[in-house]
Amino acid sequence: MESSGQGGGQSDQQGGGRVTGSGTGQHESDGPHRAGQSALDARVQEYYSGRSGWDEHARLTSRSAQGPLEHIRTQELIRQRLAPGARVLDVGGATGVHAAPLAADGYDVLLVDPVAGQVARAAEHGTFEARVGDARDLSAVGLDLGDDEFDAVLLLGPLYHLATRDDRLRALREAARVTRPGGTVAAAGITRLAALVGGGYELFEPSTWQPILQLGLPPTDIRFPAAHFHDAAELGAEAAEAGLSDVVVHGIEGPAGAALERIALDAPEAPALIDAALTLARALSTTPGVPDMSQHVVAIGTVAP
Ligand SMILES: C[S@@+](CC[C@H](N)C(=O)[O-])C[C@H]1O[C@@H](n2cnc3c(N)ncnc32)[C@H](O)[C@@H]1O
Repeated sequence: MESSGQGGGQSDQQGGGRVTGSGTGQHESDGPHRAGQSALDARVQEYYSGRSGWDEHARLTSRSAQGPLEHIRTQELIRQRLAPGARVLDVGGATGVHAAPLAADGYDVLLVDPVAGQVARAAEHGTFEARVGDARDLSAVGLDLGDDEFDAVLLLGPLYHLATRDDRLRALREAARVTRPGGTVAAAGITRLAALVGGGYELFEPSTWQPILQLGLPPTDIRFPAAHFHDAAELGAEAAEAGLSDVVVHGIEGPAGAALERIALDAPEAPALIDAALTLARALSTTPGVPDMSQHVVAIGTVAP
């Protein structure tokens, strides 16, 4: 998620009854939602291909002090669940910012992402395989991922680009399907507060705050192709409904993460601030009410035996 440029109105995502979709018998990914999702998918391609001017590789590596905070914490939370040499699938892995350090430490990693340019850049690491694909169907041609193939699956990105609960559950269930019994699925969301606290509030019309905070509905006329903002409880519930057990939702960056979005990585105070923020993030990662103060939350669950 980028902190700037997240302002504007809401168009296709508001109309078609998503708010009323669940339980009405109308399948969430039918009609207006499918059209809405296709438009979102096209924006994902535009955004992450770099044609929009956005460089996803820089997000965690050079853009701000928030990057290392998110990267270090995410790696810590994932590695706590991995045995040496574990087989890991990184879905929505972009240019390999998480896959590369895992592969460097001996994990057997496969990266999947729908944006070919990112997959090509990821493959340049030469230490893990990278393929073009979509979280909603890991058995698609060119991927053909079978049941129980992996010890762990990372879904660090796709869910906040999928507008309907149906599609998010589809991605979560696919992740669970290709994970062995007893294995781990880690699925990330962008929090509703993040959209506001992360430097967006001054760009949003107050009328957009309510749909964001109550429904997780991002404005659509912004550069970042956001489809849904979660709260921690909601993400945990989706992970559980997808069949994961012992689900724990962590705030990744902690309560100080948003402030670090405004600190340049080469600022003299950055290392000390990152350390301080890490201390807070580690201490409060599951403290009730605190995870929603992070920019990202991650639900970590076990595939039932
Ligand atoms: C913000 S990036 C996160 C990259 C990396 N996983 C990380 O945590 O830094 C979100 C990624 O999700 C990918 N993505 C979007 N929709 C997806 C989908 N339906 N299936 C798989 N990946 C998707 C995007 O292409 C992008 O690379």
